[in-house]
Amino acid sequence: EPALAIVKPDAMKRGLSNNVLSMIASEDIEIVEGGRRKLSKYEAEFLYQTHASKDFFAGLVDFMISGESMLIKVRSVDCSKKLRVVVEALRKSYAMSVRENIVHGSDSVESGRREARLFDLIKLRS
Ligand code: PPS
Repeated sequence: EPALAIVKPDAMKRGLSNNVLSMIASEDIEIVEGGRRKLSKYEAEFLYQTHASKDFFAGLVDFMISGESMLIKVRSVDCSKKLRVVVEALRKSYAMSVRENIVHGSDSVESGRREARLFDLIKLRS
């Protein structure tokens, strides 16, 4: 099961990317490929397209393009379920607010597939 994890701009600024990577590894999730990138508005809107109607959408997109992120393509059995454990643990320790919440993880098999494809498309465009 492919999926995508993202170290969000707040975590990059706070030097927390290694904490995210080691938590991913500790859940036996394979890191396929990763890279640092400042997302474009289009990429952030694509990533969160299922939330386009929410009142927090514009603020979330602005936050996601406010600085560099680390995009991490991952893979494992039950990957999105394992990512949930990673995301919850990291947010419990480090999140500053609902918006500045450190890390994104694909939340279903379907979004994992879609977001892993987004990673590949971004790589092609770079
Ligand atoms: S919902 O309404 O339950 O479907 O939304 P939820 O699944 O909780 O959140 C979807 C993503 O939006 C982020 N989020 C926010 N960002 C900024 N501001 C506010 N108020 C806010 N509320 C939710 C939330 O962190 C989810 O992003 P990811 O990166 O997938 O965790």
